[in-house]
Amino acid sequence: MPFPKPLAAALLLAASLPAAAQSRRETSLTTDWKFTKGDQPDGAKPELNDAKWQTVRVPHDWAITGPFDGKNDAQVVKIEQNGEKDASLKSGRTGGLPFIGVGWYRRQLAVPALGQGGQAVLLFDGAMSNARVFVNGKEAMFWPYGYNSFSVDITPYLRANGPNTLAVRLENQPEASRWYPGAGLYRNVHLITTQGAHVPVWGTYLTTPEVSAAAATVKLRTKVEAPAGSPSLVLYTALRDAKGQVVAQASTPVTGAEVEQSFSVKSPSLWSPETPALYTAESRLMAGKVIQDTYKTPFGIRTFQFEKGKGFSLNGQPRKFKGVCNHHDLGPLGTAVNVAALRHQLLLLKDMGCDAIRTSHNMPAPELMTLCDELGFMVMVESFDEWKAPKVKNGYSQYFDQWVEKDLTNMVHRDRNHPSAIMWSIGNEVPDQSTPEGPAIAKRLQDLVHREDPTRPVTMGMDRYDDDFKYGIAAVLDIPGFNYKPHRYADAITKLPQGFLLGTETASTVSSRGVYKFPAVLAKDKQYPDNQSSSYDLEACRWSQIPDIEFAAQDDLPYALGEFVWTGFDYLGEPTPYDEKWPSHSSYFGIIDLASQPKDRYYLYRARWNTTQPTVHLLPHWTWKGREGQNTPVFCYTNGASAELFVNGKSQGRQTKAATGATDPQTRYRLEWKDVVYQPGSLKVVAYDAQGRTIGSEEVRTAGAPHHIKLVTDRTQLTADGEDLAYVTARVEDAQGNLCPDATQQLHFTVSGAGKFRAVGNGDATNLEPFQLPQMHAFQGQLVAIVQASEAAGLLKLQATATGLKAGELQLTTAKR
Ligand code: GAL
Repeated sequence: MPFPKPLAAALLLAASLPAAAQSRRETSLTTDWKFTKGDQPDGAKPELNDAKWQTVRVPHDWAITGPFDGKNDAQVVKIEQNGEKDASLKSGRTGGLPFIGVGWYRRQLAVPALGQGGQAVLLFDGAMSNARVFVNGKEAMFWPYGYNSFSVDITPYLRANGPNTLAVRLENQPEASRWYPGAGLYRNVHLITTQGAHVPVWGTYLTTPEVSAAAATVKLRTKVEAPAGSPSLVLYTALRDAKGQVVAQASTPVTGAEVEQSFSVKSPSLWSPETPALYTAESRLMAGKVIQDTYKTPFGIRTFQFEKGKGFSLNGQPRKFKGVCNHHDLGPLGTAVNVAALRHQLLLLKDMGCDAIRTSHNMPAPELMTLCDELGFMVMVESFDEWKAPKVKNGYSQYFDQWVEKDLTNMVHRDRNHPSAIMWSIGNEVPDQSTPEGPAIAKRLQDLVHREDPTRPVTMGMDRYDDDFKYGIAAVLDIPGFNYKPHRYADAITKLPQGFLLGTETASTVSSRGVYKFPAVLAKDKQYPDNQSSSYDLEACRWSQIPDIEFAAQDDLPYALGEFVWTGFDYLGEPTPYDEKWPSHSSYFGIIDLASQPKDRYYLYRARWNTTQPTVHLLPHWTWKGREGQNTPVFCYTNGASAELFVNGKSQGRQTKAATGATDPQTRYRLEWKDVVYQPGSLKVVAYDAQGRTIGSEEVRTAGAPHHIKLVTDRTQLTADGEDLAYVTARVEDAQGNLCPDATQQLHFTVSGAGKFRAVGNGDATNLEPFQLPQMHAFQGQLVAIVQASEAAGLLKLQATATGLKAGELQLTTAKR
């Protein structure tokens, strides 16, 4: 033990003191908020009567309820990074939702009595945007960047005997974003009070400088704020493993504003995506036997390296990133953060074999980081889509000079203890790449990040290949990241001093779930009259590629560190290739659609990334009235080496994946039968491994007339906490249980019992039906209803009805945790 025995005894005693002795109180301010849209000259004044304002729960996205309108933030712009030469009207670029303008939130604050040296702090996880925080009518804080977390000490503004009024004014400008940013207090707001000496917000910094199988050194730097006249203090810290057992402890007298402690953890359980082992550092600030403050820092122990000529390794094991980029919106739920929704997304990605997330192009919700720690994802935490040079008229460039240091500092301070955080990204496709100042800005930002966290590398997404070398930004970054440049990797590596490179953004293949277009051919910027893209996964943008091209580059080039696919999920806004074609208003890039339904591409990635389970997936569907006798190509996505296809029991031949070196990368990653003639009935594939053993099969049958609705839930048991969610897929099926891929019936939902209907989505990027009404048309025979548990435990019943169809019913149980 690093401290003398008598003190140790006192501290062990202290460690067993009841929680009630602690002075810290943390409350998430979720209820009792009043909200109104539009500016209010007296919005900050405590005496304002806000009784007529809407009562809302925070996190809250004021714009997701719509209505959709092409006039909302319609941008007449030339999208330079898409190579456009002329400006044109982009109606759905930011989702067509009414997020522009001012919104006010107000609420009373119940602040516990603060003694001598007591402090009250508000912590905003993110507020969209230009947040002005008023306490009792006085402005306490302004924070413009809507994605960042910030805190404010409100002690000087409080009335000792209350009441205390909190008001927040938010304002979103037009042409400030390239996607749907959301609006309002869309992330949590916390009130934190302490009495006397305390650890401030993000006051710990934990690193693991030495790790071996035998032991890990854990270093903890803890900031202590002690008001004048505080008694002498000791910081006692216990490290606990996942079971809560103390595995190391230390006690250190507080002699300055920061305390450094060092621990040795024997036989550490190492964190990785496959084994997300977590520990907690529990710090107690003691004045004699009295606990002044308790502060918990969850952490993990792992090592990683990026080595010239060797690439990336985690805990000594070489690996490549199997990553996806994601925007922050949660589809039909909008941007209001919800842990169950994030977990649902991550579990789908996990099953696909994905092990990494890029939080494009901004700081994530803290809940995402916690879930990535727990579920095992490596995160590239990204900061900006713009530096000094604008991409949109009112983007971050207007704040850059004044705010960039503050924004980066908060980003790093908040997330640097997460084992999931594996690298920082200082930007995405910033036009500054093409300026002589670009490399100097990159160096400055990278140095800033290193100043706050020297343990992780810095990257960014570069898209201006020639300029990246001409002006030199590519050589500055710890990890050179390229967007959509597999064809340049071989050249890049000859010029990069780092000796490796990362696919920070890859593929951008477009597709609409369940939609297939004929002929099935490779195409760029392909448009169809129905504003959909084909799910044969052969269509990409002018600047992007089908997945197979990146796969081949990653497989063939040892210095390629892996990829982050654009995108894991469809998102609101950026409806490329239909940027100019309202009503398209959400993306087509997702591997999974806006309503969380996997597209065919999900199985192409799963076949490659999920190495522990077999994948055998067939496309297209097999209900093609009118195509009888016509050529209808069939693809199989599988991790098998070969497969045989049958139409109505008749073999269509066996296809085998091509070996490394094949000129057409598709032949290495897909099995394709290009000459299949459509006949109604059964389409079946049987897949085999390299030794010829069957690994699985799949059969798709031609559907008859729509007959009933089948409800399939991702979960049958929810927590009765008023927040937990189930995603229920409603399928229109024929009498035999085949999906009717053409069904477009409007389905109506009724929820009774221990929950409520929350939202619905069908994944159709052109659909203008609101997400919040309990009804929607099926798209390609399917949609997803999201139901939410109430706070009372019990049975939640969901019913789906549609004219002419037998209703679907489902019951979930909800229970207190
Ligand atoms: C990239 C950009 C992304 C998204 C994507 C679409 O250029 O970084 O934010 O716009 O293109 O392909």
